[in-house]
Amino acid sequence: MTTILGIDTSCDDTAVALYSDTEGDLLNLISSQEELHTRYGGVVPEIAAREHLKSIPHLMRVLTEEFGNYTELIDAIAVTFGPGLVGSLLTGLSFGKSLSYRLNLPFISINHLEGHIYSCLVNKEFPETPGLVMVVSGGHTLMARVVEEGDYEVLGQTRDDACGEAFDKVAKALNLGYPGGPEIEEFARNSSSPIDFPIPMERSESLDFSFSGLKTAVINYIKELNKDTLSTEEISDISSGFQNSVVESLIIKIKRELDRNDYNFLLVSGGVIANEFLRDKVDELTSYGIDIILPPVEYSTDNAMMIARCGLFHYHKEDFSKLDMEAYPTINLGEEPSKEMFRR
Ligand code: KG4
Ligand code: ZN
Repeated sequence: MTTILGIDTSCDDTAVALYSDTEGDLLNLISSQEELHTRYGGVVPEIAAREHLKSIPHLMRVLTEEFGNYTELIDAIAVTFGPGLVGSLLTGLSFGKSLSYRLNLPFISINHLEGHIYSCLVNKEFPETPGLVMVVSGGHTLMARVVEEGDYEVLGQTRDDACGEAFDKVAKALNLGYPGGPEIEEFARNSSSPIDFPIPMERSESLDFSFSGLKTAVINYIKELNKDTLSTEEISDISSGFQNSVVESLIIKIKRELDRNDYNFLLVSGGVIANEFLRDKVDELTSYGIDIILPPVEYSTDNAMMIARCGLFHYHKEDFSKLDMEAYPTINLGEEPSKEMFRR
């Protein structure tokens, strides 16, 4: 049995998990900072980094309570090295590197975006390639071709706001809490007449994404209502209209690529795939005769199980990192870290 300890501190959640090749997901711990950041309407990087410093030892204590001496159980330590907030990333990395040094175990650095892909593969084997993957999170929106496991060709990404970021910004404009996605989804459920907003890049042939035009259209619509407080009905109709446009724009891009090239599977990951409306629309794409792979809702948003699962793949390839591994806040999927992009 090979067991990987996964750690993710890329943004505002501190996460620790254990994943094994024979037992699957053993333990998933998350300490959320949502309450701390909600009053600012977004993540405050300094606060996030300081909280990770407090939460990691706490989660490791919980791990010990659950598993006794976990150090005898684990074979390697996998930690997110980027992309994310530099202070947050460094906290997890430093902890993981020192643990690896002390226990004399391999250290595996994980790209958070690749981690999201593996959130769909917890307790599962990697499917037959080629595959089309999409990551829709708070920091990223991208689509990539998986040539074979671990080999990605990015086909398109956002030119401005990330998909989840657009949800968060529209939620802020509607005076809802952070993160905005779940609240917008909840209000959208009760809408009887969604507002008709434009669908981003509806007729563009490009596989890039853009959400800031839609975000601005929604904010302008709210301004034009010229009200101090919006009614629940107005918030619901705006939320639903916005959600419809975002989801439609994602589905158009996926269809465009599925029409052009052959794929065995479609995998959609990242925090926004927690959204039930989007999940249902993606599920409808089974009409293409491909496998649709989505993460369970609990592994959609940031967690360390996906990092541990991804770590297992790299462990089998003996793809280990040195203990001078740095944090790479802006690294893309499939990109090799280099000194030039260090803390870019
Ligand atoms: O993957 P994630 O946890 O963190 C990043 O790597 O960025 O994604 C967080 C994002 C936030 O922007 C949040 O608003 C969005 O995912 N999100 C949702 C839903 N749940 C989380 N967006 C739409 N609908 C949801 N139900
Ligand atoms: Zn994430």
